[in-house]
Amino acid sequence: MINTPIPRLDRSPELRNCLLKYARLKSGEIWNDPDGKHKVGCLDAASQTEIEKLMDQRKASLAIQDPPYNLVAFQERELNEYIRWCKQWITTTEYALAPDSSLYVWLGADQKSGFQPLPDFMLMMRQTRFLARSFITMRNQRGYGTSKNWMAVRQELLYYIKGSPIFNVDAEYTDIPKILRGYYKEIDGRITENMERSKSENIRAGNVWVDVQQVFYRMEENVNGCYAQKPLKSAERIIRASSNKGDLVLDFFCHSGSTLVSAEINNRACYTADTDPVYCEIAIRRLERLRETGKAGWQNRSPFEKEMQHDSELKALLAETTEIDEGKQLTLI
Ligand SMILES: C[S@@+](CC[C@H](N)C(=O)[O-])C[C@H]1O[C@@H](n2cnc3c(N)ncnc32)[C@H](O)[C@@H]1O
Repeated sequence: MINTPIPRLDRSPELRNCLLKYARLKSGEIWNDPDGKHKVGCLDAASQTEIEKLMDQRKASLAIQDPPYNLVAFQERELNEYIRWCKQWITTTEYALAPDSSLYVWLGADQKSGFQPLPDFMLMMRQTRFLARSFITMRNQRGYGTSKNWMAVRQELLYYIKGSPIFNVDAEYTDIPKILRGYYKEIDGRITENMERSKSENIRAGNVWVDVQQVFYRMEENVNGCYAQKPLKSAERIIRASSNKGDLVLDFFCHSGSTLVSAEINNRACYTADTDPVYCEIAIRRLERLRETGKAGWQNRSPFEKEMQHDSELKALLAETTEIDEGKQLTLI
């Protein structure tokens, strides 16, 4: 098996700087999909003018936002400043969404620091026109534990709406078989239980997701170098429930391009952005790879494999690191 991983780029700034020359976008530029479907912008989510440029008058029916969480993996900002910044990209998101649309936001809660920024973000959202709809928790398989505390395995996902968007409830069943009878309900004067009312052998996804595998280096969808990659299954669940085929989906914090790739697989268009040209490049390459090979990631190979063969600086930097990219997301809880 070919094994050419690169380490997490947030922990290897020299490597990230070395890869910058392979990024086809510079700050402020937008890649237009030759198939006319998607766009990737090297843009700032908080900038109204940059997001207007990305949207070019179009409106989307769904946004999936996964910002830096103000936790350890990122340079910590003062909490008020972080929430002010969130307000800015929430404003650009509201601008970019259609009157009837959905917004999902992944956000962390730092248990060592009063659970910030989750509650502060929720309070800020009450001052906006978005209406709270659900508070979802996804369970990670591996977590961050000490012998003095519960293992931290949760990822929080907030679901808001604007107007009256669609919700394709039937689209979303888990792989978990329904085994328990119960939940009796009267229908046409007759007491029925959940097995006979059910449309599927499996249980519906609720607001606690225990059936989504966290990405790790053995999975085909793994993107080496990325440190905060969300599973395609979570993006797909959101996309299928809260948009229709042909709709436009947004993600202003693109990183590994999970929303972009999931939109492609599920026949939606995606406009996505990241301030870092290297992550924009990785996301575009991931989409291209999917189209060329049907593979949704690189597993234990690298998005920059070809360059690794002839770039001596890159080779030397990689020789210095032996880390396997197993630790993604662990610093984000
Ligand atoms: C938590 S990661 C997103 C992970 C993504 N959902 C995935 O599955 O790969 C956050 C990303 O936001 C980017 N970012 C940080 N500040 C930004 C900003 N102001 N505008 C756009 N992107 C930003 C970072 O470079 C990083 O790639």
